Amino acid sequence: MSKPAVVLLRPGDHALVARLQESCFSDPWGMDGVARTVAMPGVFGLIARVTSAAGRTPVGFALARVAADEGELLTIGVLPAWRNQGLAGRMLVTAMSRACALGARSMLLEVAENNSAARALYARRGFNIVGRRIGYYRRPPAAAVDALIMRVVLPAPMEKHR
Ligand SMILES: CC(C)(COP(=O)(O)OP(=O)(O)OC[C@H]1O[C@@H](n2cnc3c(N)ncnc32)[C@H](O)[C@@H]1OP(=O)(O)O)[C@@H](O)C(=O)NCCC(=O)NCCS
Repeated sequence: MSKPAVVLLRPGDHALVARLQESCFSDPWGMDGVARTVAMPGVFGLIARVTSAAGRTPVGFALARVAADEGELLTIGVLPAWRNQGLAGRMLVTAMSRACALGARSMLLEVAENNSAARALYARRGFNIVGRRIGYYRRPPAAAVDALIMRVVLPAPMEKHR
């Protein structure tokens, strides 16, 4: 089996994201929700996939968008069996660099305060906490959890040499 590759989501492949999101989140957006999001202006997606004799298997995904000079990470997930191998980190760095190339100068995201793995992932890539939405995630019967808003300044794109 190959090392997972991170590739751009192709138009029409939103079902891949919906299926992966279902395996990673307790409150996935569903096929229509993912399709609507992917169709929004400025949205792009990434897929992490492995190739074996059996073919290509998607194991992770990320969706992000760029509006004017601001990027936003909309969702990211890796199948449980493929976690803790740096895959989300690779997708995040790819999303940051693509957002930067598309004109973003910063990137925002929201994360549940008790999501230690995701917070570690973002902090490692330079995201800082810039805000909090009190009780934003409500998943009864669990107690409501705050959302943290995290932001990173993206590097300016390299000047083109003449
Ligand atoms: C969050 C998630 C995307 C991370 O995927 P991943 O491929 O395992 O991430 P990586 O291997 O690139 O990095 C994970 C980091 O978290 C750390 N980590 C893992 N579990 C942890 C935990 N319980 N507490 C603290 N840190 C943890 C790892 O050590 C690693 O840190 P490092 O970059 O300093 O080495 C994955 O756990 C997931 O899909 N979770 C469910 C969906 C989700 O919560 N998405 C984020 C919503 S904001």
